[in-house]
Amino acid sequence: MMKNIYAIFFTVLALFSACTSKPVADDSFKPGEIWSDNNGIHINAHGGGILFDQGKYYWFGEHKTEGEQGNLANVGVHCYSSSDLYNWTDEGIALAVMPESSGSDIEKGLERPKVVKNEKTGKYIMWFHLEPKGKGYKGALSGVAVSDNVTGPYVYLKAVRPSAGHYPVNVLDIHKGDSPAQNQNFDGGSLPGNVDTLNILGRDMKGGQMARDMTLFVDDDGKAYHIYSSEENSTLHIAELSDDYLSHTGKYGRFFPGRFMEAPAMFKRKGKYYLMMSGCTGWSPNQARSAVSDNIFGEWKELGDPCIGDTTKTTFHSQSTYILPVQGKEDCYIYMGDRWNPKDAIDGRYVWLPIRFDGDRFTIEWTDQWKLNEQ
Ligand code: DGJ
Repeated sequence: MMKNIYAIFFTVLALFSACTSKPVADDSFKPGEIWSDNNGIHINAHGGGILFDQGKYYWFGEHKTEGEQGNLANVGVHCYSSSDLYNWTDEGIALAVMPESSGSDIEKGLERPKVVKNEKTGKYIMWFHLEPKGKGYKGALSGVAVSDNVTGPYVYLKAVRPSAGHYPVNVLDIHKGDSPAQNQNFDGGSLPGNVDTLNILGRDMKGGQMARDMTLFVDDDGKAYHIYSSEENSTLHIAELSDDYLSHTGKYGRFFPGRFMEAPAMFKRKGKYYLMMSGCTGWSPNQARSAVSDNIFGEWKELGDPCIGDTTKTTFHSQSTYILPVQGKEDCYIYMGDRWNPKDAIDGRYVWLPIRFDGDRFTIEWTDQWKLNEQ
């Protein structure tokens, strides 16, 4: 009798763990496929980025939920850890969205979170695009949160529009005059004229510059930069962060005016800075763009679409979010993109592809399946 009870107990346990944990470890990347975590659940870290810390990779991204409403920040920022980049362990919610009743700003729109470590303070700093409740998509704020532990919990500090009262390093005379766009808002996908003539920068001098799609980049000298779509998404800003990475110093540059670059991802190779970006078409994928510069504050030179063989001109049906330098492997970088599913946000997929170099240019080609040791 006892034997039977034990047999039933262990059979139920085995069935339960077969249903909830990943049966076989991954040893390759399969772009666009379901990617299960250690519990057998599709990874939920969209618009994300990766931090390498003490021998492990940590992937932070937007936790999405089911259906169209799942595009909103209903839960927060999800964190996963990995030693090999193929197999990811769920580390839980690193930054939680507060209940509506708390009156907190982080209620609805929290996008593209990125985490860096400040080696001087030992703190982990997360920045993200924040659209506070009740403002539609017009808030265009950057939120910042901090933690003593890489996996969190992160404590929300504030949300700002960067660089209030500061002119960019490459300011034009026209920005110092009045703005014909004073008190006007636009739809974020186009402008009724030239961004400089409309002087969107001047319009936002006092309150700070709009900041939506974003990434972070830490340079070899420990200086950190916040890179974001600004001026109604028309122009990319690169802004220096303070030594503690918790605010902006006021030094920034504006690049690609009127090009409507979203989804910026930055990396550095052999002393040169590279950017990958998308155009501005909501959740629908569009043709990728890339650029190179010897200096983070420019001159940035556009290099065109880095994708090779992408006949549909949709970045292989994805949008950039991060470019990951693989630790201990020279010249090994991974393109990380999102294949959004706006009708069922939780089903968004990840497109990770190897980056190759061709002179000053980097390129990306599709492959159904690949391994790091084949690169
Ligand atoms: C495109 C951006 O890249 C995403 O982060 C997101 O904000 C969508 N637009 C919303 O339409």
